[in-house]
Amino acid sequence: MAVITQIQETVRFIQSVYKHSPEVGVVLGSGLGNFSKEIEVELEIPYSDIPHFPVSTVKGHQGKLVFGFMEGKRIVAMAGRFHFYEGYTTDEVVFPIRVMKFLGIRLLMISNAAGGVNPSFNVGDLMVIRDHISFATPNPLIGKNQDELGPRFPDMSEPYKKHFIRLAREVARQSDIHIHEGVYFAVTGPTFETRAEYQMIHHMGGDAVGMSTVQECIIANHMGLPVFAISVITDMGIREEENVITHEEVLEAAKAAEPKLTAIFKGIIARV
Ligand code: HPA
Repeated sequence: MAVITQIQETVRFIQSVYKHSPEVGVVLGSGLGNFSKEIEVELEIPYSDIPHFPVSTVKGHQGKLVFGFMEGKRIVAMAGRFHFYEGYTTDEVVFPIRVMKFLGIRLLMISNAAGGVNPSFNVGDLMVIRDHISFATPNPLIGKNQDELGPRFPDMSEPYKKHFIRLAREVARQSDIHIHEGVYFAVTGPTFETRAEYQMIHHMGGDAVGMSTVQECIIANHMGLPVFAISVITDMGIREEENVITHEEVLEAAKAAEPKLTAIFKGIIARV
């Protein structure tokens, strides 16, 4: 079945149970699902109930769409996302982003847990993503272009909109939250990087490294949907000599930093 037909069927299903149009879509990364507790919930739909949606398999990912209000705006949040390393195709990874666009969102906000490769970062810091390096992961637009969704060769000169980065700076200043800005280097995972790989990523211009986000960002850009994204630095891949990185540590650090992330997201939502 053509992707556009799948999207239309899924959107029709969601609109049959939820009559409103969200303004903002939010993707919650590993250990960051608590954000949805701040939503004045109108409706939750488990992924397993949504036609054509894949089902999330990773610990710490709840797997549902949450519809409701935040700061007086209607939003939809993905509690749990799909990663390429789980075995989903790139089409499956990005499907919910396409659906949210067709539900009417005008801004996509993405969060993720990431490894720090900029030596000035610390565990628990936030990094607003200014740009990304995606060539170590499969591009989700490979294959026949879906002309109904966007152009064959999309521009990627401003993958994360400067306007929202400026808003984030303003919110951070007012809330007394320290944020970094930097380049997110995407890998497929599921292995964390070797020490040599962390060094290489640092030399190639990455400030943080992670296993998500860029495919979602590319698909949003393809459709002309503005993106804002933040990484929570959950471990430091360089600087420490003997550090062993575990998924548990990543989840714990993400959870600890979540209130800061929530404050930034809320502040931006209030201003859109
Ligand atoms: N590398 C890749 N992905 C990650 C990391 C990391 O160090 N930490 C959290 N997600």
